[in-house]
Amino acid sequence: MNTGRPLLLPAGYPAVIRRLIATAICLPLALPALSAADDSGLPPAQLYLQSCAACHGVDGAGAMPGVPDLSAASGPLTKPIDALLALVQKGIPARDGMGMPPKGGNPDLTEAQLRAILQYMKHEFAR
Ligand code: HEC
Repeated sequence: MNTGRPLLLPAGYPAVIRRLIATAICLPLALPALSAADDSGLPPAQLYLQSCAACHGVDGAGAMPGVPDLSAASGPLTKPIDALLALVQKGIPARDGMGMPPKGGNPDLTEAQLRAILQYMKHEFAR
């Protein structure tokens, strides 16, 4: 029997399948990038998005209550890199809002990567 349509398949079948295929292709590509083990070659913007943006937002203004706006021209990002690095490596205990885990919760980040991220944040946000 040939009805001209695939049997027993909903009308949206091709779109669904396309999405599944896209997911199947993209997931393996995305997963290695998300696991921090060997992301040393990633640009700082990428590292920032992976490890910091969940709290600090893509624009540094803070993505949730309790996270300060780092985009102010005279804000914390005007501190020297070394001072910021020390804070980020150690983490910041919660005070009134929420705290920050050491290295933003990504222990795989190297000092060089953290410096690169902080340079990126200073350059992109604090102006
Ligand atoms: C779980 C949420 C969270 C993540 C993830 C996070 N931060 Fe933070 N960060 C905070 C909070 C909250 C503060 C403010 C802490 C305070 O001053 O009480 C903060 C403050 C900062 C500051 C300002 C420090 C200062 O001198 O006031 C810098 C710089 C910073 N974070 C960098 C980073 C970097 C770099 C990453 C990624 C490697 C990162 N953060 C990931 C929550 C986070």
